[in-house]
Amino acid sequence: MSTTQEAFRNAMRCFATGVTIVTVDDRGQVHGMTANAFTSVSLDPMLVLVCVDRKAQTHAHLQTRQRFGINMLSEHQRSISEHYADEERDRKNAEQLTGARFDRTDHGTPVLEAALAYLECRLMSEQDAGDHTIFIAEVEDVVIRGGRPLLFFQSSYWTIGGEVE
Ligand SMILES: Cc1cc2nc3c(=O)[nH]c(=O)nc-3n(C[C@H](O)[C@H](O)[C@H](O)COP(=O)(O)O)c2cc1C
Repeated sequence: MSTTQEAFRNAMRCFATGVTIVTVDDRGQVHGMTANAFTSVSLDPMLVLVCVDRKAQTHAHLQTRQRFGINMLSEHQRSISEHYADEERDRKNAEQLTGARFDRTDHGTPVLEAALAYLECRLMSEQDAGDHTIFIAEVEDVVIRGGRPLLFFQSSYWTIGGEVE
């Protein structure tokens, strides 16, 4: 090995991403987790993946429910991202603390209101990957609302400044 975990982390901080909240039902309660290790995988069939730390509570919830939402955050939803990334968060008062409001799909999957877009996903397969698991899921439904995205770059939140000509 000629590199270190610190160098790897610093390199990954150079990669700007959007920010999502993974939402999953937990016995009638909304469980959410901030995630940026998310990408589309295939168009036919429509597949996405999200990488989840094996220690995250979300990990077990995805395995139990098999169905979850990916909510792409808007530039106005930074406090929601911070809340659902905080391991010590007050899980009962998310709506009051952050303004996050949730609807439910016909399948009972929680949907974050005012996100740029939402994907309803059904778990298809899992792949162990070091201290994370890669969850690959089929996209069953999409809702697009539009707006400007929340971005994550160099461990800070950003929004789009303008299109590169
Ligand atoms: C911008 C950002 C992106 C994150 N992306 C991921 C991710 O893709 N996968 C992951 O497992 N944790 C990710 N995290 C960390 C989790 O959000 C955090 O550990 C959370 O508290 C886990 O919640 P849970 O234990 O309720 O599942 C991210 C945190 C931030 C701030």
